[in-house]
Amino acid sequence: MRVIENPKEMQAWAVETKRAGLRLGLVPTMGFLHEGHLSLVRLARERCGAVALSLFVNPTQFGPNEDFSTYPQSIARDLELCRSAGVAAVFLPQAAGMYAPDASVAVVEERLSAGLCGASRPGHFRGVCTVVAKLFNIALPDVAVFGQKDYQQVAVIRRMVRDLNFPVEMVVAPILRDPDGLAMSSRNAYLSADERRMGLGLSQALALAHDAAEAGERDTAAVKGRMRAHLESRGLRVDYVAIVDADTLDPVDALSHGQVALVAAFSGKTRLIDNAAL
Ligand code: PAF
Repeated sequence: MRVIENPKEMQAWAVETKRAGLRLGLVPTMGFLHEGHLSLVRLARERCGAVALSLFVNPTQFGPNEDFSTYPQSIARDLELCRSAGVAAVFLPQAAGMYAPDASVAVVEERLSAGLCGASRPGHFRGVCTVVAKLFNIALPDVAVFGQKDYQQVAVIRRMVRDLNFPVEMVVAPILRDPDGLAMSSRNAYLSADERRMGLGLSQALALAHDAAEAGERDTAAVKGRMRAHLESRGLRVDYVAIVDADTLDPVDALSHGQVALVAAFSGKTRLIDNAAL
């Protein structure tokens, strides 16, 4: 497995790999890998002859009061996991190698990123789009695999790929959950045992929405009210509870198919997100 820090060297590796006739897959990550990330690698390997994984805690997608400086990292362990998972190259850049001090170009998606996490985390999706566009230009993937847990991120990147004509096929992997229902996330490492128990409120609130839809409930406001009450009853501080159209991310008044329920809430200081199709 190659470990490459320099963007130009990564580009050269990608060109060489593709010249050898291999379809190239990319799994973009911020590291501290867990089983969810490894499932993305497996999906990429099913579709591609060579898979690259990027490990980069991207500073530009964190707000001033967010967890950039404390984001969990374990590079040696991540590299070992990548090796066992059959990753061909890990791209491990430094921030200084990714961003010139006077960088003045960014990618901004203006519609899908306005609400939900975009409303609570101003500038987050500008940072995400910019770094993913750069990763696409550096790693030159034919296929890029993202996790469904970041539902809005997937929608925003899909739109960027469409609107900027990136020749990249997007593959979305289902959410992986621990046996108790907590969606896997690198940020779960922050949780104390109590906070982790509280965090189960997110998947429970989504199950509540799912069951209400199945039972024929149509009143979105009532369902969202019950979801919020459930999250609060578990001791969580709610950031948002939303039921939106699965494609446009517009809020909906009446429950029906083709919608998705999303929640974001703080368990202690840790912001958790989760979602489920209705
Ligand atoms: O989902 C993530 O881990 C990040 O937002 C991504 C896509 C790797 C960009 O930094």
